[in-house]
Amino acid sequence: MAEKVEMKDIVNLCANRGFVYPGSEIYGGLANSWDYGPYGSLLKENIKNLWLKEFVQKRMDTMLLDASLIMNPKVWEASWHVGGFSDPLMDCKSCKSRHRADKLVDAKIGEWTPEPDEYAGDKTDSKRLEEIVKEMDIVCPECGEKNFSEIKKFNLMLKTFLGVTEDGAALAYLRPETAQGQFVDFANVARSSRRKLPFGIAQVGKSFRNEITPWNFIFRTREFEQMEIEFFVTPGEDDTYFQIWKSESERFLTEVIGLEKENVRFVPIKKEELPHYSKEAGDFEYQYPFGWWEIETLANRTDYDLKAHMTASGQNLSYFDTVNNTRFLPYVIEPAMGLGRITLAALCDAYTVEEDRTYLKLNPKVAPIKVGVLPVVKKLSAEGKKVYAQLSEEFICEYDETGSVGKRYARMDEIGTPFCVTIDSENFDAGNVTVRHRDSMLQETIALSELNTYIREKLI
Ligand code: GAP
Repeated sequence: MAEKVEMKDIVNLCANRGFVYPGSEIYGGLANSWDYGPYGSLLKENIKNLWLKEFVQKRMDTMLLDASLIMNPKVWEASWHVGGFSDPLMDCKSCKSRHRADKLVDAKIGEWTPEPDEYAGDKTDSKRLEEIVKEMDIVCPECGEKNFSEIKKFNLMLKTFLGVTEDGAALAYLRPETAQGQFVDFANVARSSRRKLPFGIAQVGKSFRNEITPWNFIFRTREFEQMEIEFFVTPGEDDTYFQIWKSESERFLTEVIGLEKENVRFVPIKKEELPHYSKEAGDFEYQYPFGWWEIETLANRTDYDLKAHMTASGQNLSYFDTVNNTRFLPYVIEPAMGLGRITLAALCDAYTVEEDRTYLKLNPKVAPIKVGVLPVVKKLSAEGKKVYAQLSEEFICEYDETGSVGKRYARMDEIGTPFCVTIDSENFDAGNVTVRHRDSMLQETIALSELNTYIREKLI
């Protein structure tokens, strides 16, 4: 009977088996920074590649972009991030802990009856937020006191300086989202690709936010990877495309990555709580061991961003519709996923404890190692290495000849390897090997000449 996974199990497995380590560990670490180890890197890479395959390779209407991480600071002024991308912070004067006031209210609303809606929409105004915290009788989650400071706004942009001086003129920001690259390059992509609407621009890469409360392992970090698509449509078609991208996102998370359907849900954002740039939005959430939390945001950003950049840059970012002879600013549907959050969800979903074994029941497509190659005895090294060479032409494999076969299977199971190929002399002499399956533990004899085809078909 499978048991419910706890975060400490995931964190331990990740550190001990080479998925994720604390960053800069030999120097005592750096708070909330994490390094993806050999298996974590491959797992994350596989998820990223599946996203690229589904949304760039298989779609005729989406193209890839790789914009700079450091953009002209005017981009972030126009996009509202410099002026507005901030969290409302409150300190507890009794125990000195620091909290996001809006999150305290959200947590309280979760347990609030009967009418939480009365506070919806009010939470962006700091003074009003302070009043709500008082009206709702919110206590400090650390010490239980009601002794909060005034709210201070804290900007999340990570600053850096370009060149030799560290003055205002040299100030730049590390991008807090990949998305603005798509807006700033919209006209260039539209012109050079000669695409007609609707079309999408996809981008995957690092983003940085000076999060006040990085939290829960790789869930909320200051440096993270996003996979974002800005899908440009004719105004009036935006509601339809919002629904299309809602289904596509759900399909990606549950069918392509293989997260359990019951662990994924879509939560629409109430009209009063929509961010300033969106007309409709919702979050896909995953049921992590620490509760339901956002894994993807889907938003109808209207023409907000193109309009803002057109005004600020003075450049014409409108689209000319040659069929109807009209010029307009497209609307944008944005599915924005966090790569680290999907990686963590995949690990939590796969963690399985059954009687005497613990293993990762990862979808074979995302598993870091596809095939473990295990000669039953060291004497068969040469034969084992030959099989490794044959398979590694196509698949990421791992070769292991030390210890008992049972222990080697267990190790492969723990890192989620879906297939192990064992080599014994009798079978090998007859041109065969044994394939052992991670989940069922069943074994099959397969001809060496058929082995690559056999594994390939299982990975489709
Ligand atoms: N362009 C829209 C945008 O950036 P967001 O909800 O702020 O929207 C999109 O971010 C996704 O990026 C989130 O759903 C989450 O998966 C991921 N993300 C955001 N902040 C993160 C952080 N500090 N650590 C890890 N992932 C983060």
